[in-house]
Amino acid sequence: MAKVYVFDHPLIQHKLTYIRDKNTGTKEFRELVDEVATLMAFEITRDMPLEEIEIETPVSSTKSKVLSGKKLGIVPILRAGIGMVDGILKLIPAAKVGHIGLYRDPETLKPVEYYVKLPSDVEERDFIVVDPMLATGGTAVEAINSLKKRGAKHIKFMCLIAAPEGVEVVKKAHPDVDIYIAALDEKLNDHGYIVPGLGDAGDRLFGTK
Ligand code: URA
Repeated sequence: MAKVYVFDHPLIQHKLTYIRDKNTGTKEFRELVDEVATLMAFEITRDMPLEEIEIETPVSSTKSKVLSGKKLGIVPILRAGIGMVDGILKLIPAAKVGHIGLYRDPETLKPVEYYVKLPSDVEERDFIVVDPMLATGGTAVEAINSLKKRGAKHIKFMCLIAAPEGVEVVKKAHPDVDIYIAALDEKLNDHGYIVPGLGDAGDRLFGTK
């Protein structure tokens, strides 16, 4: 069964408060999302495999640990997911970045893929799918389906704020995908917004309305 991790680190919680605040402008909002993504990347990479190599310090020879070269991919869900990519790349600069774009069909209300571009070696990579908001879960489920369809086997999902409804939907559809969250909020409102949430993440990141 999928595990859900809520990152309650004080720095993440502090920055999230200003991300939520409606008086925070676009520039600061973008910077804070970037910083929180970096801090979350630090936590999410806790289980990265290490191997020992032999090195010489100025004093003696010793065995010491390095990352064992696992290939990573970051996949933002367009468009708001883009706001989290650079923050993650600061810690994992060798990761490749794919993109998945989905829109909601006005009749069926189901998410439909309109853009998918992934690294060519999908089957060999571990992926982190990112979207600041996990609301109904429909988009996250479809983005993960899209990755799995193309051969991805190890996927994590990372967001800033999740609604309990969305977490349940993703857990049920993808029990093999662990979910990493900075805050688990109260609920969804009738318009599909997370309460208390932060409003529309894409609009706040890119200054659109
Ligand atoms: N997407 C957003 O940007 N905000 C929400 O509250 C829900 C979905």
